[in-house]
Amino acid sequence: MAPEFIIVHPQVLPHIAHIQLNRPQELNALNLQLMLELRDALRALDEDEQVRCIVLSGNEKAFAAGADIKQMAGKTAIDMYNTDQFSTWDAIKKIKKPIIAAVSGFALGGGCELAMLCDMIVASETAKFGQPEIKIGVMPGAGGTQRLTRAVGKALAMEMVLTGKFITAEEALRAGLINRVVPPDLFLSEAFRLAETIAQQSPLAVKMAKEAVLRAFDSTLEEGLHFERKNFYLLFASDDQKEGMQAFIEKRTPVFTGK
Ligand code: HXC
Repeated sequence: MAPEFIIVHPQVLPHIAHIQLNRPQELNALNLQLMLELRDALRALDEDEQVRCIVLSGNEKAFAAGADIKQMAGKTAIDMYNTDQFSTWDAIKKIKKPIIAAVSGFALGGGCELAMLCDMIVASETAKFGQPEIKIGVMPGAGGTQRLTRAVGKALAMEMVLTGKFITAEEALRAGLINRVVPPDLFLSEAFRLAETIAQQSPLAVKMAKEAVLRAFDSTLEEGLHFERKNFYLLFASDDQKEGMQAFIEKRTPVFTGK
């Protein structure tokens, strides 16, 4: 069945897929169905050999204004436990291909957390990032207290999480939360440009490198270095390693196949 709340373009450009969150009337509030659709689309693109990099965006006004407050408002703790809504988030964390968030407008609460679950963030000058859950009597639940703190440090994370204040794209860039800020009409094309650069590399090396960078958050330095070395060695089993190094020696552009 076609998804209702997202639009998927598996080949928006060669080797690049685009998923657009599409609940514009609700500022792309992340209801449960949207998250299931997003998980399924990402899994399918992860399996699709033609796809090497994925761009996730909302629209100009909002990347996403958070989890759907109207859907959550009447829930009990047991409802929340039984719903197990974070299983979709856990599945998205396991996507092997790089995902670039293209953010314009609001990236709040779960919206900010979803952008942080991606591997890189390209933002429009209009972007606003925040964890305003405190203002509705709760707190971040999809990684905000952890990923934001790792990205921007304790001082700013504590202020954002405890006061709910938003930061601008420029502030987010200075704080290390995002990769770049561009004028509003360029946020999507700039994300595609970044995706194109990644798509030119060996897809295998990209996946293993992503996996290793993410390990830095989940392990000690020693474990992370061990993991990195294992992936580094493993890439010497690939055609792409032979091709990449031979192309360098022959002073030509490599042709990577992902094998
Ligand atoms: C449900 C939402 C929504 C949300 C906006 N809407 N955010 N519906 N859940 N998170 C709806 C509004 O109710 C409204 O619907 C329509 O979208 C437009 O929003 P407005 O408020 O009229 O727009 P504006 O005045 O421009 O204000 C924008 C805003 C504000 C500042 C972003 O909408 C806002 O504060 N939203 C909530 C942000 C938030 O608290 N997010 C964290 C959620 S908790 P109607 O029908 O009235 O037109 C969370 C937990 C994460 O994310 C952990 C689990 C994943």
